[in-house]
Amino acid sequence: MRRAELRQAFLDVRKRSALICAPLKTEDYIPQPIEDVSPPKWHLGHTSWFYEAVFLEKYISGYKPFHPRFAFIFNSYYDSFGVRVDRPLRGTLSRPTIDEVMKFRTYVDEQMCGLIDTVQEDGWDAFCDLVILALNHEQQHQELLLTDLKFILACNPLRPAYLDNLDHLNLRVDVPKAKLIAFAGGVCEMGYTGNGFHYDNEGPAHRVYVNDFKLQNRLVTIGNIWHL
Ligand SMILES: [Fe+2]
Repeated sequence: MRRAELRQAFLDVRKRSALICAPLKTEDYIPQPIEDVSPPKWHLGHTSWFYEAVFLEKYISGYKPFHPRFAFIFNSYYDSFGVRVDRPLRGTLSRPTIDEVMKFRTYVDEQMCGLIDTVQEDGWDAFCDLVILALNHEQQHQELLLTDLKFILACNPLRPAYLDNLDHLNLRVDVPKAKLIAFAGGVCEMGYTGNGFHYDNEGPAHRVYVNDFKLQNRLVTIGNIWHL
């Protein structure tokens, strides 16, 4: 991947995290109803801290972090990066504000774009692979953002909706009736065998025994509850 391509991929992923949070009110960014759920504000800060810790502090000599204590607040469980706020306490932090976290994101975006444009050519391939790993990390957090938001909003007796109006999503309402299709078990191969990005725990490919199982004939959709 070349510089312009990586820069665009980086900006696209970063923008998506903000888009996922766009429908939220300020107060929605803070709750942590159970330990396994992290506040949206924390996800947004953590995914920015990650670039500071993995790239900016290592590649830019004399790099000045956006805030000296954000590493303590937004580290998750990476021991080599130092101590951090205990996971169950993430929802107790009213500060930094979401405005500050968004400024932190902008700062990191600018610094990262500058680094992508200037990092030395002879280290490019290793750098590029690491950025792709970091983008996959942020995309994992985007999945977490959505599941955590579902939990946060569903815990509220006022039953707030993530989006009040879903018209623009053009949800399908003509989904076929769901049915389960049976598959015979046996020895199967699992694990990644391609050349593209994959996490180390997705390989090597190996054989496993799978019991008989059933799979639904279509994806789960909220389209068929649209008229309730
Ligand atoms: Fe993470």
